[in-house]
Amino acid sequence: MLRPSNSPMTVGVIGTGHVGTITCLSLAAVGHRVVGCDADSEKVKALASGRLPFHEPGAQELLEEQLATGRLTFTAETTVAVSDADVVFICVGTPARASGEANLLAVEQAGREIAGAATGPLVVVEKSTVPAGTGGHLQRTVSGGHPDPVRTLDVVSNPEFLREGRALNDALHPDRILVGASSPRAFEVMRRLYQPFVDDGVQLIETDIISAELAKHASNAFLALKISYVNALARLCEASGADIEAVARVMGADPRIGSEFLGAGLGFGGYCFPKDLSAFQRLSERLGYPFPMLAEVARINDDAIQAAMAKIRDVVWNLEGKRVALLGLAFKPDTDDVRFSPALTLARHLLAEGATVVGFDPVAGAAAQGDVPELELAADPYEAATDAHCIVVCTAWDELRELDLQELGERMAAKNLVDGRNLLDGPTATAAGFTYRAMGRPDSIGSVP
Ligand code: UGA
Repeated sequence: MLRPSNSPMTVGVIGTGHVGTITCLSLAAVGHRVVGCDADSEKVKALASGRLPFHEPGAQELLEEQLATGRLTFTAETTVAVSDADVVFICVGTPARASGEANLLAVEQAGREIAGAATGPLVVVEKSTVPAGTGGHLQRTVSGGHPDPVRTLDVVSNPEFLREGRALNDALHPDRILVGASSPRAFEVMRRLYQPFVDDGVQLIETDIISAELAKHASNAFLALKISYVNALARLCEASGADIEAVARVMGADPRIGSEFLGAGLGFGGYCFPKDLSAFQRLSERLGYPFPMLAEVARINDDAIQAAMAKIRDVVWNLEGKRVALLGLAFKPDTDDVRFSPALTLARHLLAEGATVVGFDPVAGAAAQGDVPELELAADPYEAATDAHCIVVCTAWDELRELDLQELGERMAAKNLVDGRNLLDGPTATAAGFTYRAMGRPDSIGSVP
């Protein structure tokens, strides 16, 4: 069980997006005084009044609880977040440049502002995902080239391993905490900060800064590789008549492989994997080792969408004038995030081929329509299915497992179902009159034995 810190610290968090806000909440929850800071004063107002600006299970409740303790506050002024702090986290965005490289301008800017506002010794933590080598640049930026014995600013790399939708649990009960630093003082400060988590049994891994930075990209790229591996196998299963669900079950039973991230389907999306994969690729090229495997991981991921398109064409024939219903629009369940969502990539392909596309998502509908304005929105799966020629399951939301297939089918213009996440039971769908297609599973999987 997590117990409060016996040595509470004062923490500033620059950037209150998803990662920054969850960092604020988890550190306040163990008793630290936390000031979250964002240049967007609307966001600051919302957070300070207890309104979470994104969907993350459990976070709204924890925000209200921590605001009530008075330990958690928000500000738009960097000086307020930095001047009394022992530790300041940089949680600003590192979006992709057109080249695929990470744009680190916001990190540099945050470093400058922190250096300008610091009044005493401070540990400056890179939480944002950054390419290996960023710590050196940041250290030079915050030191301003003039080592200052009173205001020693030590840069630390402390990458996050938060999954959207489970971010709170990942922050409060992480598999590991990674701290890359270059001075004993910085390690000491970070040990004190994370003492409640370590007392709770969490492993704290200490490395040099560059290794910590690289380990973050390496972890995300490896998980993406696992998904692409299983999706490439899915294509092989389709060609051979094998069932990817059976193959993945067998592989996953080997603890050296592990069963997680072997889910075949439409592939990975979200703000992390696609962006980090290309940033890691660019970094490798810059370092003189192009790491061609990473390009292949991305290519196989694109193939997964093409495989789904082929199945849709197979069941509805020509797409022009057909109505396709996408169930699930978020890039994965339990989030309203649609950034790089495979569902929206599919929607764009379908629209380009002349189909009408209607979508349903329990929470991400509005965001999806913001990205793809031609997308029609439905209030529930049954409305989405009305007059559709094909349903495509795009996101593995739990509530889509419980669909009344009979009712869905009765509303449709043609009973076709492409299960992009292998979420439903094929024989049940066939018994309800559907032509059912799954990913990496034989077409006969939908037939009643
Ligand atoms: C990912 C990592 O899992 C976190 O450890 C990391 O901290 C985070 O990126 C980050 O760098 O910030 P996240 O993007 O929230 O977290 O989502 P994941 O749960 O990893 O899923 C990523 C994508 O892979 C989703 O589109 C999901 O549907 C897909 N996926 C996942 C599959 O297609 N198959 C699987 O078996 C698992």
